[in-house]
Amino acid sequence: MTYREVNILRKSQNKKNIILQEKKKEILKKISKEIPKLFNGKLSYVELGSGAIDKIKLLINKDVKYYVPLDISLDYVRKSVKKLKKQYPKIKIKPKKIDYSKQFKIPNLKETTKVYFFLGSSIGNFYNKEEIKFLKKLRKSISKNNYLFIGVDLIKNKTTLDKAYNDKKGYTAKFSLNLINIINRTQKTNLNIKDFYYHGFYNTKLKCIQGYLVSKVNQNFKIGNKRFFLKKSERILVEISNKFTIQSFTRLVSNTGWTTERVWLDNQKYYSLFLLK
Ligand SMILES: C[S@@+](CC[C@H](N)C(=O)[O-])C[C@H]1O[C@@H](n2cnc3c(N)ncnc32)[C@H](O)[C@@H]1O
Repeated sequence: MTYREVNILRKSQNKKNIILQEKKKEILKKISKEIPKLFNGKLSYVELGSGAIDKIKLLINKDVKYYVPLDISLDYVRKSVKKLKKQYPKIKIKPKKIDYSKQFKIPNLKETTKVYFFLGSSIGNFYNKEEIKFLKKLRKSISKNNYLFIGVDLIKNKTTLDKAYNDKKGYTAKFSLNLINIINRTQKTNLNIKDFYYHGFYNTKLKCIQGYLVSKVNQNFKIGNKRFFLKKSERILVEISNKFTIQSFTRLVSNTGWTTERVWLDNQKYYSLFLLK
């Protein structure tokens, strides 16, 4: 992903879910007051998919010795790290480029309790129950004494969810349609972005948001040796975002080797943060 593409993603994530972002911050503020009681001694924070480092800032306190932001798009993270270093000169910040869906190693963080963070709602973006494999793998690679905070977006009424993924300014649509530019650049195709529109909605039966690019015309294109035909109105699934209940996510976690220690909710029960061990 280029810096520009990540920026479009960030804007789309932030603008489409202004209410949700506020809910997430509300919970993080609650947790920040409790962190000194939850963990003893010096801490290392390790964040998966840290992005702009906006949320973790709410949780940093004097006990944090190391902060390791891990992200697939490191150029973007580095800009935020610079600012954070100025704000917290005593914290050792060690950004690392990783793909968290693959095996990865973190730097040596001596004499600290390691607390991992997977904030946002990215756990909902895995296909075909891949989130179970992901959590199992993470459990195996993190030692038993370490913790994981994980953000989980909760099921709410369809109108609210549909609205969140169809923001008025069209950021979500812009982000999804940008995939056409990426396909053209990486696959040497010549697709016209104007021949597609974005359609995202909450699928009540599957309990997930589905985002599609819909073809406005009959068209065909070649990727490598393979020719693809898209009829007018035919859809390409480009995003899913699974939504959970506290019970369904606790059940999911119990099949991965992790134990749910605590769950925090905002006052409207839109979003939750699980502490796993
Ligand atoms: C939606 S943003 C969330 C940022 C931040 N955690 C928050 O909640 O505000 C997702 C971030 O995860 C990163 N990301 C996505 N897939 C990744 C992967 N497979 N490995 C590492 N980072 C990834 C993206 O580059 C982006 O910075």
